[in-house]
Amino acid sequence: MFNKFVSFLVLFVTALSGIAQPREAIDFNGGWSFTLADDLQYRRAEFSAANWKKITLPHDWSIGFDFGEEHPAGNAGGSLPGGVGWYRKTFSLAEKDKGNQYTLHFGGVYRYAEVWINGKYLGKHINGYLSFEHDLTPHLHYGNEENVIAVRVDNSLQPNSRWYTGSGIYRDVRLEKRSPIHLLRAETFITTPEVSADKSTLRVQTVLNQTMPGKSGKLHLKLQDKNKKLIAEQTLAFSDSQFDQELSLGRVALWSPESPTLYDLSISLLDNSDHVRDELTYQVGFRHFHFDEEKGFSLNGESYKLLGVCLHHDLGALGAVFNKSAAKRQLLIMKDMGVNAIRTAHNPPAEEFLDLCDELGFLVQNEAYDMWAKRKNKFDYHIDFKEHYIDDLVRFVKRDRNHPSVFMWSIGNEIREQFDDTGIAFTKNMSEVVKKLDPTRPVTAALTETNYDKNFIAQAQALDVLGFNYKYFDYDKLPTEFKGVPLIASETTSALQTRGVYDPLQDTVQLWPASSKDKFVTNGNTDFTVSAYDNVAAYWGTSHERAWLEVKKRDFLGGIFVWTGFDYLGEPVPYPYPARSSYYGIVDLAGLPKDVYYMYQSEWTDTEVLHLLPHWNWKEGDLVDVWCYFNNANEVELFLNGRSLGRQSKTDDQLHAAWKVPFEAGELKAVKIKDGKGVQEVVKKTAGKPVDVIVDIAHDRYAVDGTTDLYFLTVSLVDEHGTVVPDNDMELSFIPQENIAVIGTDNGYQADLNSLRSPKRNTYKGLGVGIIKKENISNVGKILIKTDTFEKEVTIK
Ligand code: GAL
Repeated sequence: MFNKFVSFLVLFVTALSGIAQPREAIDFNGGWSFTLADDLQYRRAEFSAANWKKITLPHDWSIGFDFGEEHPAGNAGGSLPGGVGWYRKTFSLAEKDKGNQYTLHFGGVYRYAEVWINGKYLGKHINGYLSFEHDLTPHLHYGNEENVIAVRVDNSLQPNSRWYTGSGIYRDVRLEKRSPIHLLRAETFITTPEVSADKSTLRVQTVLNQTMPGKSGKLHLKLQDKNKKLIAEQTLAFSDSQFDQELSLGRVALWSPESPTLYDLSISLLDNSDHVRDELTYQVGFRHFHFDEEKGFSLNGESYKLLGVCLHHDLGALGAVFNKSAAKRQLLIMKDMGVNAIRTAHNPPAEEFLDLCDELGFLVQNEAYDMWAKRKNKFDYHIDFKEHYIDDLVRFVKRDRNHPSVFMWSIGNEIREQFDDTGIAFTKNMSEVVKKLDPTRPVTAALTETNYDKNFIAQAQALDVLGFNYKYFDYDKLPTEFKGVPLIASETTSALQTRGVYDPLQDTVQLWPASSKDKFVTNGNTDFTVSAYDNVAAYWGTSHERAWLEVKKRDFLGGIFVWTGFDYLGEPVPYPYPARSSYYGIVDLAGLPKDVYYMYQSEWTDTEVLHLLPHWNWKEGDLVDVWCYFNNANEVELFLNGRSLGRQSKTDDQLHAAWKVPFEAGELKAVKIKDGKGVQEVVKKTAGKPVDVIVDIAHDRYAVDGTTDLYFLTVSLVDEHGTVVPDNDMELSFIPQENIAVIGTDNGYQADLNSLRSPKRNTYKGLGVGIIKKENISNVGKILIKTDTFEKEVTIK
């Protein structure tokens, strides 16, 4: 009794005056142990995990394996295993920390995460793409006695996805320390009810977890620009636990992908002695947008085409592991191509991914589900859908609604219920749930081919914006069939390519597979490659050029989301195993652009583009298709060994210049002609034997916080003149010499079965990528890149 009284007193006193610092997010990624085995003993506090593997989160155990046909996920799931794994971590808390509240926040666990603290069960989280947290406070020890967290992750039910999911605690974990009286992040909603050139308002709604002692306190709102200049400030006295306050602002800079101006908002909770009890901080962007059924999309009052790509969540050789510098690299590669919008296909991304989109400037169509109650795979989320979809949707919207980048919610992709009358009720119901939590953004879904029966029409009409996948030859029917519903091409293209592979062109786009009767292509390449001339697509898709041209010429389509920006693990249409990753990307899995990247860049940016393909290593007498992507000029002139092969332009239907050239070793040169004058040129030379590597180290642009930053080494095999050798690949060994860890390697080839974690990698068409990390960020690192015949030491400053 006495003890209870004392601890009550301690709590009460600390609640009133002791803890004056605002909440703290403690990085909880380090110091975990992991085993790929299953035994309920592992949950017990006294179990010793001393023999387990020491790891740092985020972690994906599947990606460390060699690819194999035996894995039940199949090649659609990436040909890698699932299974059950356990994680444990011990930690201690100082006596003086008693009285705080501690929650453990998981950014994402695939899948079925069960958590114990000191042997006490905290619960099971179902959805593999959403964050969740547990309150640890009642179970914690302070002082000498340690705490132990145990997490069981179960990804054994396979197949459960149409793409690679990864397995494990694959996003960040943090321990949040806060005062027992605090603001509820999930209930906090920041909106901009008015945004105009010279006047805006910021509305802040938030909720306290309990009433303040004495029922009084203050809430302090402060908005600053990135130079810490004060924009607005307000202190409110209150006696309630709910707040809804507007700040009137003068002129603010607007947020857009081209100019992603953000402001810092802090919401502080003060007690009567003006001690800060809690503080939430946000990045705020001011923008307004509109969808119009005839004019398409507009942003900040100007007509604006959404130039988007769909992205899956894996980060290539990292697997599902979320790493902010790797995500930043993906996004900046997309930005350089001209992308201004991302569709997070088909599930919620990492929270930090949205931070990056806010900061770098992307409009995000944030998608919740790839299936509802009807399955796409035997063990996918449909088995949990009915019980969890509302809670998960609520969690999703509350998690992401304060990001300026997020501009629409998608409740589903090509959902099976679209084809029957159960879809209408789900659509209405989910749309209502989303609208209640966030009336500021439209709700969409990506519907697919259909005969526009009454179910389709009813579902389309229950949406604010109709997302329409593929079927570009139906585009002109849409405005009449779906009067009053604005439209976007939510998914297009599904063209197929392997970087650096060039087969002689056929007259028409080849469909691989040819129709729904074939699972795989019947006349494909024996090495599981697809030519990179933008001349092959799955039968439901079309070439990149065609898809973009169809959207470009129709104002009523708000924009395009190309399937996909990057290749991803799994779904290797059109081939069976050993193909194990997709061919759809504009950029390959290693992050190396395919040629068509420059078609988009020429159309979507003002960057001077002049890109010539293919390489210039052929057999004498081969008749080679030569293409050139370019912009800001009418013509390109081609020269072979100094002789002009004539000028070519683009046409209304063709976004590249083309020649057929009998091969002759030497030098192929393209010159961009503007107003009759050559203004830019590019050269392809016939390469000899590889004698060296050139290593391009990409880091500074992708840096985020130092400690988790990665370095991306693009290694090119070159001949004695420094020309990249496209037809004489070699194995590269990445051998750390000093202060370096090799995280992964890749070459973008979709049927390379060597583990992506291997420090050895064959180049593919002359290129390979090593992803490395410095062990100690402040010291120099050294790595040796070795082939059978030569080697190069690289210093990482
Ligand atoms: C779409 C689907 C995507 C992907 C794509 C491949 O129909 O929405 O998830 O499977 O096909 O072409």
